Amino acid sequence: MAKKIVVINGSPRKGGNTERMIDAFKKKAEGNGTEVVTFNAATSNVGGCHACETCFKSGKACTYDDDFNTIAPDILDADGIVFACPTYWYSFPGQIKNVIDKLYSFCIGEKDIAGKKCALICCCEEDELDVMDGLSKPFDRIAALLKWDVVGKVLIPGVLEVGAIDKTDGCNQAAALAGKF
Ligand SMILES: Cc1cc2nc3c(=O)[nH]c(=O)nc-3n(C[C@H](O)[C@H](O)[C@H](O)COP(=O)(O)O)c2cc1C
Repeated sequence: MAKKIVVINGSPRKGGNTERMIDAFKKKAEGNGTEVVTFNAATSNVGGCHACETCFKSGKACTYDDDFNTIAPDILDADGIVFACPTYWYSFPGQIKNVIDKLYSFCIGEKDIAGKKCALICCCEEDELDVMDGLSKPFDRIAALLKWDVVGKVLIPGVLEVGAIDKTDGCNQAAALAGKF
């Protein structure tokens, strides 16, 4: 059976740096025969976790029904998950953070999600790699808690405007990442 990877896109910018890296990843992964499902967290309606701890009791992952419930079955089903986003204020953009927060539903709902592979694709304007520490370090802890295996990270500093990623190695790195799943 073909492998399945879910890519969560946390950038609202159409044709932006994150989206270009996702496209490069997707092209390579699909070329390898992998099914890629992309979820645009930034243009979807995913609210914050209410900590009601009634996850899956209504039959859906989240009792507060929103677009997380459309991607939750794919996440459950996937062999790999990629989080892709720009850096916003040294951290995750709010839209993708809401998706991350709702991964809690799999813990409360006692779903067996251990053993998945995961990766992070990220970029920022400033030139230093550690600008992305606020995403990279939590990502490692999140993966460890979920018992997911981090297969790689593409962290590209120094990109501000749409298209700036094309002057870096970001899209090549994103394509190479596809081979790690
Ligand atoms: C709300 C907001 C906050 C940002 N915060 C940071 C930041 O803390 N550090 C940084 O280097 N770049 C920051 N940026 C710049 C973006 O990370 C950068 O432009 C990135 O290339 C955008 O990726 P995209 O084209 O995929 O949206 C911020 C941009 C926005 C819109």
